[in-house]
Amino acid sequence: MELKLAFNQTTPVSTDLHVVAAFSKSTEAKGKKSTQSLVNGHWSKELKEAFLKVNSNSSFTGSQGQSVLFPLENGTMVYALGCGEKNKIKRESLRKIMANLFKKIKDSHSNVSFDIDALIIKKDVTGTIDALAESLYMTNYAFDKYLTKKATCKLESITFQTTEKKTKQKSAEKSLENAKIIGDAVAFGRDLVNEPPNVLFSTSYSKIIEKDVKNIKRVKFKALGKADLKKEKMGMFLSVNAGSAHEPRLVHLTYAPAKLTKKTKHIALVGKGLTFDTGGYSLKPGGSMMNMKYDMAGSATMYAAFRAAAMLQPNVKITCILGMTDNAVNEHATMPDSIVTARNGKTVEILNTDAEGRLVLGDCLDYACDQKPNVVIDAATLTGACLVALGTEVCALMSNSKKLSADLLKSSDSVDEKLWELPIIDEWRDDMKSNIADLKNIGSTRFAGTPKAAAFLQEFVQEGVDWAHLDIAGVGDSAKHLPYCPSKGASGIMVRSLVHYMTNA
Ligand code: BES
Ligand code: MN
Ligand code: ZN
Repeated sequence: MELKLAFNQTTPVSTDLHVVAAFSKSTEAKGKKSTQSLVNGHWSKELKEAFLKVNSNSSFTGSQGQSVLFPLENGTMVYALGCGEKNKIKRESLRKIMANLFKKIKDSHSNVSFDIDALIIKKDVTGTIDALAESLYMTNYAFDKYLTKKATCKLESITFQTTEKKTKQKSAEKSLENAKIIGDAVAFGRDLVNEPPNVLFSTSYSKIIEKDVKNIKRVKFKALGKADLKKEKMGMFLSVNAGSAHEPRLVHLTYAPAKLTKKTKHIALVGKGLTFDTGGYSLKPGGSMMNMKYDMAGSATMYAAFRAAAMLQPNVKITCILGMTDNAVNEHATMPDSIVTARNGKTVEILNTDAEGRLVLGDCLDYACDQKPNVVIDAATLTGACLVALGTEVCALMSNSKKLSADLLKSSDSVDEKLWELPIIDEWRDDMKSNIADLKNIGSTRFAGTPKAAAFLQEFVQEGVDWAHLDIAGVGDSAKHLPYCPSKGASGIMVRSLVHYMTNA
């Protein structure tokens, strides 16, 4: 599907289907229920007349979710799209409007034009195009590679048309390009998560990334295997991989900007890449094990964000560390009560082999800090408790830096992804201490499971490094509440926030 722009355009571009926005206004009559009425003053005379011909006593009020079809004299069909009250429209409403429109027309029309004039918020043409395009790319996603009958889409092109001056088209084109880069990255990340564990495991996962980065300029790839992890003394990471049929992989990517100086900001991303989490000897019950292929969503999120950022070429250095293994059981698997030594020298009593993500991440965080970044951000499907706290709608943020958490909250807010900060308190840090080792990998109660996991991770963040942890256990999977995310499978949520953060750092 192709997305096009037509500036300085006053008549419908498409003769197939032309979409126009319609709004509603509610009037409060004293003592009576408020009534909705159609607002279409921005339509052309021709449009208004054609509408009245077939809808003289229509119930169409331009409310959100409503739509009406009518023909123009030349046969072009017009689709009037109810967008609700005009003054309530924000960027997120545009994404939702676009997603719902796409779903309605994708199987019935091939070439569609969409008059976006009335939807331009605060004269921000590029911002509006950005939100619409981003949503369109995110909505046009299907994981159908294992279906013999593929997903259908008749739609070949959408043209956003506007009466805005041609001089503004260049910057709008740039925002289309950027939206495509981000949309492609989100799709790539979703594909990785949706891939089943018999296809995507540590070694195959690493190869997929190696192949993909070949097309990105200024990016270097390196992968560490089992022998390398032993040399690195990554005792925690190796303990998780002990029961696996596959060698672990630590993928190390770097993006260096063209103007790299000593002062260039360096951001490190770290992702949990558990290609399947059985729980290990602390085996998950069948129901909870289902869908644990998605336990690598943290790494897929970080890779997708890295991929998009590297293509957008910001003036920051980016390191991306992905810790890949599955958590399986065989005769070599780590037994609960084992004590291992982390890369940073701390000893850890593994009381529950299902609290494995923090073991992999802890060693990866220490490794990432050795690269001397200013900032380290990790993403992980780390705790079931995160779903209890914030549901599937809100991502949890924990940090050792007020500045970094404020920056991330700002970025998430500007792309309308929901992020909420949880504290890490000394009581929880104390609760992660063992009496026979420096640390234990679970707390003594199941309360505050999400920030206690963060308190554990912080033990592996080196002094002076600003660190933030994103627990995406809730938001990583299907986001049914968002029309531009699939109702089942990987969501791709948080990629846009991270890209925004890196490109505005
Ligand atoms: N991958 C899981 C967390 C998870 C659970 C994500 C459910 C999404 C849905 C993680 O490795 C895990 O098993 N965590 C345990 C930690 C516990 C043993 C302290 C959990 O949350 O139960
Ligand atoms: Mn687990
Ligand atoms: Zn896990």
